[in-house]
Amino acid sequence: MDPKELYRQKLLSLPEAVALVHSHQTIGTAMAAAEPHGLLTELAQHRDRLEDVSVWVCLPLRLYDFILKPEMSGHFFVENWFYGAPDREVHPQGRVSYIPNNLHQAATDKLHATGNHVNVFWGTATPPDKRGYMSLSLSLVIERQLMEAADLVVLEVNEQMPLTLGDTQIHISEVDHVVEHHVPLFELPSAPPSEWEQAIGGHIAGLIEDGSTIQLGIGGIPNAITAFLMDRRDLGIHTEMFTSGMVDLYEAGVITGRKKTMWRGKMVGAFALGTQRLYDFLDKNLAVEMQQGRITNDPYVIGQNYKMVSVNTALQVDCYGQVCSQSIGPRHFSGTGGQLDTHRGAQMSPGGRGIIALRSTAKNGTVSTIVPMLAQGAEVTVPSQDVDTIVTEFGVAELKGRSVKARTDALIKIAHPDFRDSIRAEVERLGIVPRLAVQGWGS
Ligand code: COA
Repeated sequence: MDPKELYRQKLLSLPEAVALVHSHQTIGTAMAAAEPHGLLTELAQHRDRLEDVSVWVCLPLRLYDFILKPEMSGHFFVENWFYGAPDREVHPQGRVSYIPNNLHQAATDKLHATGNHVNVFWGTATPPDKRGYMSLSLSLVIERQLMEAADLVVLEVNEQMPLTLGDTQIHISEVDHVVEHHVPLFELPSAPPSEWEQAIGGHIAGLIEDGSTIQLGIGGIPNAITAFLMDRRDLGIHTEMFTSGMVDLYEAGVITGRKKTMWRGKMVGAFALGTQRLYDFLDKNLAVEMQQGRITNDPYVIGQNYKMVSVNTALQVDCYGQVCSQSIGPRHFSGTGGQLDTHRGAQMSPGGRGIIALRSTAKNGTVSTIVPMLAQGAEVTVPSQDVDTIVTEFGVAELKGRSVKARTDALIKIAHPDFRDSIRAEVERLGIVPRLAVQGWGS
């Protein structure tokens, strides 16, 4: 059948598409900048006829009524692979719960868990081309796996979405319905780096050699680094998330991918979140390869890159080298995402390195983020066995293969000077490194 005719037959309005969801069903959704804004907005309107609907989300970016409004209790329950601001707000009300995961296994684990089944998948796509092919555009992290498992697939077509290349194509004949919802994309603004971010960026840049392949994570620090890499040559990108700073590096000629050992010459990633400039850059760009998160984030795939450097951010690091990046004490903040995947994968790579960067203090300098032991209830994102390199604005601590005593010494050197003595005193008081440990011993 003519693809245009097929598209026309499958086209529904937003209320018609949401009417296909029934009580006690599960909806899987596309994530972050690929979230189906129209369908998720419409969902709350169907509250009165829907009970006990489970919605699987990952990093929702906008404030949807079905998540936020207290009267949604009993109607919708949100299971979330990575919290954003709305989930943090609504968590105390008990309508959202975190799904612990490593990103490359997020969809697989969820789909294989006993009793789990995804009835409906809601995603986003570009309008079809003349042959009926659409692009899944801004995320492939979990989308294709959920789509393949779902009984019913509905895609929200938005002409503002970039046509990305890689494993993104889907034919109109493969989906059950489409809806049209043409809205501007969510933008994550890029702020100029602060003084402390510049210091961290400078330290990290010193660890990235010409010809390296890099992954930059989510948060202010990874984006700040790019300004310090402008004099590097032949860098490559193999990342979970495409960021706005990567466009600057590409346009400055720093990223060529010529030395890459996997997808040579291509920038590889699973999703994109940034400015409109980033989205424009990704549009029909033959240098960009979007791949599923189960592939981009598989540590054994990452580790096949030569000189792979992964940079992620954390909230707390303790003297064992345990890294917490996803909670503030027991209060869940974000998620593991691909942090452990990429940190481990980078260390498997010849000449590779896993970097965790964080500011040495938080809350206007009143608390140290380098601590004797993680706060009670903190979730461990990178265990001490996996940790490699920690960077603050005060320098670089190399922890891999080193004893707890040596790790403590190295971390105290990069802690804020106001907290160094108290960290040492507490480490001794707790017996993590006894006071009698011989000076100068330990590596
Ligand atoms: N104790 C108490 N509060 C702390 C803290 C600490 N040790 N460290 C940070 N905070 C507070 C900050 O003050 C800030 O509060 P505010 O929002 O009221 O200003 C908040 O926590 C967030 O900190 P910030 O450093 O601004 O976060 P960020 O936006 O740079 O993101 C992470 C940092 C760690 C939360 C984020 O990178 C993340 O979720 N990482 C895990 C996933 C990941 O790295 N995935 C891989 C790549 S995509």
